[in-house]
This record gives sequence, structure tokens and C-alpha cells, in this order.
Amino acid sequence: MITRLTAIFLLLCILSCPAWAQRQDLNSGSIGLSYVLQPVQPFKDTTGGFGYHGWSAHLSVPLFGNRYSRSAGKQEGALRHFYQVSAHGNFESLNTRIGFIGNRRTIYQASAGLGWMAYDGKKNLLLADLNMGIAGDGPAIQNHDERYRFSGLFIVNHIQNTSLTWQYGLVFSYAYGRPLPLPVLGIRKKLSSNWTFAAVLPVSLRVTDRLNKNMRIEFLLRPSGNRFQLENQQNFNTGSTTVYMQLRQFQLGLAWLYRFAPRFSMEAEAGLLAGGKLKFTTPSDSKDILYQTTLKPGFRGRLSLHYHLFHKRTGTELPDNATEMLRVN
Ligand SMILES: *[C@@H]1O[C@H](CO)[C@@H](O)[C@H](O)[C@H]1NC(C)=O
Ligand SMILES: *[C@@H]1O[C@H](CO)[C@@H](O)[C@H](O)[C@H]1NC(C)=O
Ligand SMILES: *[C@@H]1O[C@H](CO)[C@@H](O)[C@H](O)[C@H]1NC(C)=O
Repeated sequence: MITRLTAIFLLLCILSCPAWAQRQDLNSGSIGLSYVLQPVQPFKDTTGGFGYHGWSAHLSVPLFGNRYSRSAGKQEGALRHFYQVSAHGNFESLNTRIGFIGNRRTIYQASAGLGWMAYDGKKNLLLADLNMGIAGDGPAIQNHDERYRFSGLFIVNHIQNTSLTWQYGLVFSYAYGRPLPLPVLGIRKKLSSNWTFAAVLPVSLRVTDRLNKNMRIEFLLRPSGNRFQLENQQNFNTGSTTVYMQLRQFQLGLAWLYRFAPRFSMEAEAGLLAGGKLKFTTPSDSKDILYQTTLKPGFRGRLSLHYHLFHKRTGTELPDNATEMLRVN
């Protein structure tokens, strides 16, 4: 059970979160490591606050497809039809500080899934993704109280012309007993040779300035949210052994992406978090709010390093202009 607004937040996060961007690497697989820091944001109505820092790792590997057949890869600049199936996994360990909960809780997030993409060689790139995972604190996992959540998407990336792409489709989650679909509409427009504007309605915006072949800067506004299971160690007045912690806010940020070697890239992101709401509910009923509070604005920083796996046989990459055009987020 989950409230509608939180659900919309979480679904939009699926599309705009860094993990999705890494999965959606059109060229190859990748291995990545990130460090994230979100210093404590004080609660507005009481003492204490919420914050965390931690590590995450991701892996994305193409499994099969015809992306790298010689005919598809050989002609520089030419886009041919292709399809590709890949697998991805993500692991995150966050050391949290949650105001009134005395001990620090480590929250683990782990997920795995399959992605599929197919390009018709002309106007449409189709993307599908299925993902399952858990997000809970150490005690909840040790006591086998964790529950799986599922998410998926199907998106058509329709290329109108070289400077305009539309995205439409469906994102859905099946989190803790309830399926939720959300239609998605997005646009990606090249404003000039170096500037691109992208939006996924209603709340995710990104403006990219390509500084050169290997470097770009992004200005972004996106939802930031998550939902974790916490073990109830007499922290809440309920008989439930676990509770859900729901967090949602907006992130206004700046990211710098730099490909410093053919196989390596890095990304530094800094942002402001605002409009934060933190809510604790019982697992059985999202309307049964155990505690809720608003958060003061805060900071979020993230640093990532990616290693790009090229296909052994050809090492071919999509031309740069095509990669830009086919991106979703
Ligand atoms: C990308 O650029 C190449 C060479 O400049 C050009 O031949 C090709 O048509 C472009 N592709 C797209 C999709 O714009
Ligand atoms: C792309 O299509 C849009 C909408 O039809 C049009 O306004 C724009 O001029 C086109 N751009 C190019 C480069 O053809
Ligand atoms: C776009 O970037 C290129 C470098 O990739 C630069 O030479 C050019 O001046 C830039 N164009 C504009 C309009 O800023």
C-alpha cells in the first residue's frame, strides 16, 4: 500500500535516477562505483533530522543481440536496426541518521533486472526494462522481513528529426502488494549545436551543454524519493515488526560528466534538495501514518566512476550524435 503521490514520485525516480541512466548505456555495458553524500536535513517541526552517506555499485552487461554484428557496426555514422538484451544489477549501502531513532541504521538496496532495446533503423527506439529488488535496513534483512518490489517500463523513443525526439510509454511498479502504472511523456530537443533540453512530464527537466566531445554539463530538476523498510525496534507505537519510511523531495542540481579515457568516465553531481517530506507508515496501510515530518532544504553530492565495456569483436560505438538523440532521460 502506498499513497498515490508517493507512487508517482517513485515511478518518476525510476526514470530519472542515476541507476537508470547507467542501465540505459546504449553503447556497451558498464561497471560503476559511486559515493553519495546527503548531510543531515533538519526536521522542520521537531529536533533531529535525516541524512546519509554511502556507496553504490552497478553492473550492466549486454547478453545477446545483433548490435555488434559487422554489418550493423561497420559504417561510421550510419544507424542500422538492431536489438539488444542486457542484464543489470545494483547494490547500495547507505549509512543513515534518522532523528529520533537512536542507533544509526544501514540501509541496503539491491536490485537486478533485464533490459531490452530495439531500434527499427529509422524512427523508433523501443526500450523495456524489468527490475526487482529490496530496500531495507540491516535488522529487517537479517530477520528476513524484507519484501521484494518490482518495477518495469516500456518506452518508445520516437525520433521526429535529428533535433527532436518524443518519448512515450508506461512505467510501472509492483511494490508491496499493489501494481501501479504511470504513463510517461517526454521530449528531447536540441536547442543548438551544443545545448539540449529534455523533459519527462511532469517534473523532470534536464538541460545539457556539450562542452566538447568528452565533456558535458547538465542542469537538472528531478524528483528524488525512495521507500525503505525499517525494523521497528520499539521506535514506533505499533505491533508491526517493520515500518516503511517514505521520502520524497525535489532535487535541483548540476552535473559534470567527463570521459577521460576511452573506457573510463566520471561524473560529479551537486544539488539542492527541497520540499522534503518524510513519512513512516505501517506495512499494511499507507494511510496509517506513524509519524511524518517535513525536512529543511539540504545538499546532495554524488561522485561516480564508470568503466565501459566494449564488445570484444568490433569495439564499435554508436556515433555521438545518435547516442545523444536516443537517450531517454
Ligand atoms: C551523425 O553524423 C554523421 C556524420 O556527421 C551523419 O552521417 C549521420 O547521418 C548523423 N546521424 C544522425 C542520426 O544524425
Ligand atoms: C524537427 O521537427 C520540428 C517539428 O516538426 C520542426 O519544428 C523542426 O524545424 C525540425 N527540425 C529539423 C532540424 O528538421
Ligand atoms: C560547441 O562546442 C564546440 C566544441 O565541441 C565549440 O567549438 C563551439 O564553439 C561550440 N559552439 C557554441 C555555439 O558554443
